[in-house]
Amino acid sequence: MAERPSVKDILARARAAGPAAQAGGAPAPAAPEPEVVEAATPEEEEPVAEAAVEEPAAPTAPTASSLGRPLTLQEKLAAARAAGVPKPAAAPKPAAKPAAAKPTAKAAPKPPAEAEPAAPEAAPSAPPPPAAPIPTGRPLTLQEKLAAARSGAAAPGAAAPAAKPAAAKAAPAAAAKAGAPRELPPLEKITDPKDLAEASRRFGAKWAAAKTAPSPAKPTHKAEAKPQKVPPKPSKEAALTPAQAERRRFLINVSIGTWVALGWATFTAGIAAMLAACGRFMFPNVLAEPPSTIKIGPPANFEPEEVNERWKSEWGFWVVRSSKYNGQDIIYALQSICTHLGCPPNWLAGEQKFKCPCHGSGFYISGINFEGPAPRPLERFKVALADDGQIVVDKSQKFQEELGQWADPDSFIPV
Ligand code: FES
Repeated sequence: MAERPSVKDILARARAAGPAAQAGGAPAPAAPEPEVVEAATPEEEEPVAEAAVEEPAAPTAPTASSLGRPLTLQEKLAAARAAGVPKPAAAPKPAAKPAAAKPTAKAAPKPPAEAEPAAPEAAPSAPPPPAAPIPTGRPLTLQEKLAAARSGAAAPGAAAPAAKPAAAKAAPAAAAKAGAPRELPPLEKITDPKDLAEASRRFGAKWAAAKTAPSPAKPTHKAEAKPQKVPPKPSKEAALTPAQAERRRFLINVSIGTWVALGWATFTAGIAAMLAACGRFMFPNVLAEPPSTIKIGPPANFEPEEVNERWKSEWGFWVVRSSKYNGQDIIYALQSICTHLGCPPNWLAGEQKFKCPCHGSGFYISGINFEGPAPRPLERFKVALADDGQIVVDKSQKFQEELGQWADPDSFIPV
């Protein structure tokens, strides 16, 4: 029985057959195959090796038309590997699903340092091993990145992920040199644990800085209560035109002058009234009485035993010519006022007496009282003969019989 080839031999043959197949139009070996070989445990090495050896000999693959149903993802991948057609870009997980790739997860903990030296040892002059399939159109998961890094993929599709860590390492170094922190992707897109740890550290630093930072000063009520400066109110004088200002001053002056003039006029009128009162006080009241003397005509105009009432109503006396008092024919003037309470008596020619209508006092033709309440005779006025022969009656002088004044020659005129 021939000796069973080792895994390294199988890997070397597969890698050597890959470029040859590519040069002859054969499809390139699938990317996960080297991983499968490297990651396979000793128990699984055999089926992997068989798959690697048998893979180039499987020229055909099931198609949808032959199966009568749409192909599954695994079938599509198998067909692609068999036909050497590049994997469709839309394939979501080309390397994780195949059955041969299952051991990859188990082999993942293996350090890449063990797998990397194997390639130079197995085929120093062989071309670089094909890179693990890198799906495009979406970011790599952490496991995929780790697998790609450990596998040391050098394919064109894997070149970018391989260079990414170097660039990522170079960027922080440049940022550190420049003194600027490295820019991290959004938190939901962070896949690198280092980035996640850096983001957590930065968040903690920000939180501590915000906690220890002094809070902004709050405005106090005193500041709010600060009185606002109110601009001065414009004066009315400034708002007026020159003509309006002149008219305003004129009206003010006229108003003031009017009030001053009114005050002075009132003061002057008061002074004048006071002076007039003083002057009036200097002249006492005088009754405007009619003259007390009156000429009643010559004595020949009067008949004996006659009472003439011509001057009774206007002058208040009778002119009597009689000889009843002492038997002497004389003319005298009797005042027509009752000596009781001042009523004017009437001459009753039929009874030849003066009768008072108030209380009934009666007086003779001579004037002597004889009935009623009158206490005394009537009074006489002064009579005299004027130069022209007329009798002049003077009412300013009276003569009373009870006082003996009728004997006075001025109280009668003998005829
Ligand atoms: Fe003439 Fe009284 S007033 S009687």
